[in-house]
Amino acid sequence: MKNDIYDDLFGKVQMGYAVIESMKLAQWKLFLKQGLGLHLADDSETTQRYRIDSHACRLLVNKGKAEDIQTIGYEVTDEHSLNRILARFEGRKLKVEKHTGEEAQLRGVDEFHRLTGPKGLGIELYVNAQTSGQPLNMLSSGFVTGPAGMGHVAMTSRLPTKVQRFYQEFFDARLSDRIHQPMAGGVMLDIAFLRLNERHHSVAIAATRGLRLDPIRTKVQHMNLQVASMDDLSNSFRRCKDLGFEMAHEIGQHPNDLELSFYVITPSGFEIELGWDALAVNESNWTPADYPNISVWGHKPQKAGPLDLAMLNLGNFRRGVASLLKPEYSPI
Ligand SMILES: [Fe+2]
Repeated sequence: MKNDIYDDLFGKVQMGYAVIESMKLAQWKLFLKQGLGLHLADDSETTQRYRIDSHACRLLVNKGKAEDIQTIGYEVTDEHSLNRILARFEGRKLKVEKHTGEEAQLRGVDEFHRLTGPKGLGIELYVNAQTSGQPLNMLSSGFVTGPAGMGHVAMTSRLPTKVQRFYQEFFDARLSDRIHQPMAGGVMLDIAFLRLNERHHSVAIAATRGLRLDPIRTKVQHMNLQVASMDDLSNSFRRCKDLGFEMAHEIGQHPNDLELSFYVITPSGFEIELGWDALAVNESNWTPADYPNISVWGHKPQKAGPLDLAMLNLGNFRRGVASLLKPEYSPI
C-alpha cells in the first residue's frame, strides 16, 4: 500500500457534509428550512439534520457554544484512496481518530476518520454516505451535488501557504486561480481557489498581503451551497430577506467560477453563499489566472451606508489586530 500513497488523488475527494455548532437552534431551523429551503430530516432539542439530496445528512446542527462550522466531512470515492490519505497523514505523524457509533450515524456515515485541520477546523474523511429513501420536502427544486460534492468553504488565514499546502499534500488539490481584491485602508486581500475535483473550488483561502491579519472570528468565513435553478436562487434570496436575515452581499457574479450568488449572514454570524451555475473545470485546457476583483457585478452589501462601513472596518481592524496575539493552528 505504502509505495503508492503518492498516486494522484485528484477527483477522488469531495465535500460531503458540514457540522455546525450553535445555541440558536430555532433560528437555524427558520433559516435553513424556511429561508434556504432545505429538507429537515431530524429535529430534536440538541440536533438538527438536513438533506439536500439522497444523502441522509448534509448539514448537521448541534447545540453548543461555538457559533461556527466545527467540521467539514470529505467523502472519498473508495477505501483504497482513503487508505492512501491516511497513510499520508501517518507519514506526517498527524493524529487521526476513527469514530463509529452515534457520532457517525448522526453524520449519515458508518464510520469516519477525524483530524484537526488548518485553523482548527475539523476534517473528517469517510467512504460511502448513507442514503434516505424518504422523498425530499424542500422549498428549493434541488441542489447540485454529485461527484463534485456539495459546495465549498472559504476561510481567512494568517498562514495561507500552509493551508494551501495541506489540501495539496493530502488531497492533491489543484490551484484554479487567484483573486486580488483591494480592501478599505489600502489593504490587499489575496484569495487562492483550490479544486479537489471538477468543481471550480472546494476550498478558498483568503489572506491580507504584507502584515497578515485575520479579522474573521469563525473558522469558516462562508460555506457555499449550489442550487439547481435561477428561480431557486432568486426565491431563496427573497425568502431570506422576508424572514429578516441580513445579506452580507446581495446577488452578484464572480469573475472566476462565473457563479451567480448571494451571501446571507447565518444565525451564528458566518455567511452562507447560495450560488447557481458555477462552471466545471475542463482539465485539458485549464490555466490558472489572476483576477483584479472579486465580483464582475453586484455583491453589494445590504448595509452600504458610510457609517456602517466605517464601523465595520473599525470592528474588523480591531479583531484583526487581536488576531496577531494568538497563533493560528496548523497541522503541518
Ligand atoms: Fe464562495
